[in-house]
Amino acid sequence: MNKTAIIYSFNSRKTGKIAEKIKEAFGDDPFVLINAEELTEEIFTSFDQIIMGVPTWFDGELPNYWDEFVPALEDLDLKGKRIALYGLGDQKGYPENFLDGLGIMAGILEERGASLIGFTSAEGYEFESSRALRGDHFAGLAIDYENQGSMNKERVANWVSQLKKEFS
Ligand SMILES: Cc1cc2nc3c(=O)[nH]c(=O)nc-3n(C[C@H](O)[C@H](O)[C@H](O)COP(=O)(O)O)c2cc1C
Repeated sequence: MNKTAIIYSFNSRKTGKIAEKIKEAFGDDPFVLINAEELTEEIFTSFDQIIMGVPTWFDGELPNYWDEFVPALEDLDLKGKRIALYGLGDQKGYPENFLDGLGIMAGILEERGASLIGFTSAEGYEFESSRALRGDHFAGLAIDYENQGSMNKERVANWVSQLKKEFS
């Protein structure tokens, strides 16, 4: 069975909690948890199935650790890689930039030829604009700890059921 990597910053508290929940929901699948702050191109390309945790920081930007990996990503050919993104954002606090980091990362990966999976409906969220939108779907799982934390468990469970089909 293919190993799947979940890559996120081990210092991003909420992003890390969601990574644990995803791992738990997948059950027996062989998962490797990788710290985005120690990521290299070799590690990244050694997995065919990748889940990336991407919170939005700085009013619509990627966190530093992802931003620092972008030049490496831009050099890679990601054709054939199946990648699922989950993003964290705050729709009430940052309604004009909700989940922009997820959208920025999705754009970079799409441009390199990756197959993004795990898109989810934007229904049930309230915001003004988001770079993460692709039509009426987000380019991954949208988590809002600040305003909809009680929905995390269900959202993760539904997403993992979806990924099990889309990864296979
Ligand atoms: C300074 C600051 C800027 C933020 N900017 C945005 C933003 O532009 N868009 C958004 O959706 N969320 C934004 N957020 C909310 C974070 O994405 C959210 O709190 C997330 O859960 C952080 O996850 P982490 O603690 O794992 O990094 C911001 C939070 C902070 C503290």
